[in-house]
Amino acid sequence: MKLPSPRGPVSDAVISALAQAPHPFSAGDAASDDDLHLSLFVLYELHYRGWDGVDDTWEWHPDLLALRARLEASFEAELRRLPVPETVGDVPHTLVAMASETGGPSLSGYVRGRATYEQFREFATHRSVYHLREADPHTFAIPRLGGAAKAALIEVQIDEYGGGVTRRMHQEMFKDTMSALGLDTTYGAYVDVVPWQTLANNNLMSLFGLHRRWRGALLGHLAAYEMTSTGPNRAYANGLRRLGGDEKATRFYDEHVEADAVHEQIAAFDMCGSFCRAEPALAGDVLFGARCVLTLEDRWAEYVLSRWEAGESSLRD
Ligand SMILES: [Fe+2]
Ligand SMILES: [Fe+2]
Repeated sequence: MKLPSPRGPVSDAVISALAQAPHPFSAGDAASDDDLHLSLFVLYELHYRGWDGVDDTWEWHPDLLALRARLEASFEAELRRLPVPETVGDVPHTLVAMASETGGPSLSGYVRGRATYEQFREFATHRSVYHLREADPHTFAIPRLGGAAKAALIEVQIDEYGGGVTRRMHQEMFKDTMSALGLDTTYGAYVDVVPWQTLANNNLMSLFGLHRRWRGALLGHLAAYEMTSTGPNRAYANGLRRLGGDEKATRFYDEHVEADAVHEQIAAFDMCGSFCRAEPALAGDVLFGARCVLTLEDRWAEYVLSRWEAGESSLRD
């Protein structure tokens, strides 16, 4: 994936540094949400598949890690302002209640009934940043767990990775949807055109995935994703069919309607339930992770819908 264009002084400093051999490095504070979230995204990607032409040893460069810690502190401070249910009773049932709250505007309802073909392409463009590496951030939790919670996570991840069959991997299925829409299926092809709200959704998973201390939040994040998937994916599939999408184009969404009806149970009850019994001190973090993703996804949907309702694109120029 090609390094993106900077969106402020910090992302400029990071991207310019990465284009060279590793060297001592420092940068100031992020100038905007765009600058913050692009910088974090670029730094996090060093732990996934990396950037074209960037030296692999940058991944653990202490100066970059120091900068990442400062940027993460700003992001975390914002997340900690979100309201989380105070008393942790039964975590799985609390997750069910949280997932069924209708917080933000219904993007899925809009996509099903009203989105134009061009808007559906935009929707898939935003989502491609995650779907082309779907499941990868949550896989970071596997070595940090044991027993029943680990087994439940692996049961979900096996489906996400197509049971080891390439064409059934959710990451690969999404390429068929993108191809049908005439989009570029290259990993990370659209990082430059998505707004910071889309990058923030991805950074949230990387923040939780790359820090062992956030393992509870990472599981809560995955559970919330699985528990808010079936209805919206049915709507996306029907929206794409309305716009002429064939079986191959809608397969990614259709598959999620089926798979996530099972995953939501496994994730909430087997995975999060077992985890909270094994590590009760982290039960609050599970709910925190779920709260963060539900709120950030609502904020993203609100942004996209507001642009569409103004007759504008939700992507950057
Ligand atoms: Fe999936
Ligand atoms: Fe799933």
